[in-house]
Amino acid sequence: MTMSSNDIREPMPSCLDLAQRALSDGLPRVIQDYRPGYHIAPPAGWMNDPNGVVYFRGEYHVFYQHYPFEAKWGPMYWGHAKSADLVHWQHLPIALAPGDDFDRDGCFSGSAVVCGDTLALIYTGHTWLGEVGDEHLIRQVQCLATSIDGIRFVKHGAVIETAPQDTIKHFRDPKVWKENDYWYLIAGARLGDMPLLPLYRSTDLHVWEFLDYVAGGGEGDGYMWECPDLFRLNGHDVLLYSPQGMHCEGYERLNKYQTGYRVGRLDNEWHFTGGPFIELDNGHDFYAAQTLLAPDGRRLVWAWLDMWESPMPSQAHHWCGMLGLPRELELCADRLCVFPARELTALREEPLPGTPWWGESGTREVPDVNGNMLEIHVHLDLLGCTDGHLGIAVRCSDDGHEQTLLYYDAVLQRLVLDRSRSGAQVTGQRSVSIDPTQELLALRVFLDRSSIEVFDENGRFSLSSRLYPQPGSLGVKLLASGSGGRVSIPRAWSLASGWL
Ligand code: FRU
Repeated sequence: MTMSSNDIREPMPSCLDLAQRALSDGLPRVIQDYRPGYHIAPPAGWMNDPNGVVYFRGEYHVFYQHYPFEAKWGPMYWGHAKSADLVHWQHLPIALAPGDDFDRDGCFSGSAVVCGDTLALIYTGHTWLGEVGDEHLIRQVQCLATSIDGIRFVKHGAVIETAPQDTIKHFRDPKVWKENDYWYLIAGARLGDMPLLPLYRSTDLHVWEFLDYVAGGGEGDGYMWECPDLFRLNGHDVLLYSPQGMHCEGYERLNKYQTGYRVGRLDNEWHFTGGPFIELDNGHDFYAAQTLLAPDGRRLVWAWLDMWESPMPSQAHHWCGMLGLPRELELCADRLCVFPARELTALREEPLPGTPWWGESGTREVPDVNGNMLEIHVHLDLLGCTDGHLGIAVRCSDDGHEQTLLYYDAVLQRLVLDRSRSGAQVTGQRSVSIDPTQELLALRVFLDRSSIEVFDENGRFSLSSRLYPQPGSLGVKLLASGSGGRVSIPRAWSLASGWL
């Protein structure tokens, strides 16, 4: 008997192979205009939360919620990138694909830990029990996958199959860490319209014992706390989470959902008591933050630099979503201070000439500082600044039509990020309160094609937002109106690409 070529069957491609192929096929369609040069973004397709930020065998690994087939949310995969220095990143093959009976409709957010010589991913297996998208009929279980090489993962199925109460259906985003002899796991859960944070422990990552609810929400706290994280900093416990359903008030909580924290104490009975919920960033786009204890003891944090249901013009460019810069957290009294990771100075190219102080009314072009991948240091001398605006404009078009404004409003006593003319689809202002008695406000501003991240040099606040100006809108200007106050750009750099 002779064998025809039809008898030689190719092995069936796995879900991961298909996803990887779809990603490669999608690459030529990706339009580069808005793509970040030094931030993590998917090669093509969709990204949301960072999930699994971990240091494994001398390298930082960042996993993220990913849909490789289209630039929109779908059954979630885990994308994967790594870096030896937090600055230069490399894409790795997709780590997890949904499709088994425990994660049929999505590998939702979770975390990554190093267990001996194994890299372990703990994530939520999501299944729609009714119509796709019907949030009332869902099953969410916590699953484990492990890898020896940090690239290919073997799934072990669900390790927490039911929530502490069977009326809890929303049960997701396990964050795992090790303390003494135990692994601990905190997750988000929703009982009716009450958010709860169950805490578990385990000795082997497979068998988990429910300890108690670390915290829960009351009136005004929202209905679900996504992506919880609990860590010690400077002798205090910090509870970080991303609530859904909190209302805005004044200038606070203006985004659809928030990411913020409370500083307090976890007692021996596993109950957290702490101060008020404080937003970790005050821009338009910052969600689902997750932290990592770096080997040198720093507490690093990454977040999704987007917001659910906000305009995402890059979808038309066949990719969507990016992560914010890695940031260092410190505890200053009862608040977190946030700084761009110190390694990021390695992105700086030759310094650009800065400007002297300037305080005349009007705008002044800064021709030497120009571009879409920049770090700009801005100083605002607030002394005598009692009315008007003082600040800078970035991503300005030559015709004056496009510009993104960052200024101190002396009447409001607030630093305002105004993207009402920041390009495609986006709009609106975000701001933080500024103590006018401080004479010098020193800011570090990072621009990366479709993003701006503003950091107070003293770590007291950050404002992070997406922008979609034309690629040719590259100008920088100083702005002053009203009386008193001066602005300068003491230093600025063009930044290099962070992709290997
Ligand atoms: C947060 C989140 C998580 C969930 C994931 C799904 O943005 O809603 O709670 O695990 O995204 O992609």
